[in-house]
Amino acid sequence: MFYNWYKIEGAHFSSLEENKLTETTVSVKRIGLLKRNGKIYAFTALCPHAGAPLCTGWIDSLGRIFCPDHKYRFDPANGRNTTGEGYKLFTYPAEVRDDEIFVGILDQTTV
Ligand code: FES
Repeated sequence: MFYNWYKIEGAHFSSLEENKLTETTVSVKRIGLLKRNGKIYAFTALCPHAGAPLCTGWIDSLGRIFCPDHKYRFDPANGRNTTGEGYKLFTYPAEVRDDEIFVGILDQTTV
């Protein structure tokens, strides 16, 4: 698989608040970002259940994304629906390079 890497304009890892959900746009996709324990996570900003904006939800004590609408939870590292309803949150590879945040979007021309 080949990813196109996009820099998140105006976002710096050091200035992101820990455990705070932030929505941004990358290549017309709504992407959620989470900084937790020195790592950055990226995922689709809309809940896979019924499309609620996940970044208006919150993070529980185990670092799971808590959807604001029906309270399903998702692991930001792998998208697993930890409350067991059978949904999967799409996640993206994310990296920090010199304090800048990059998100990888799969190149559809190589799939
Ligand atoms: S919309 Fe997220 S749990 Fe229903």
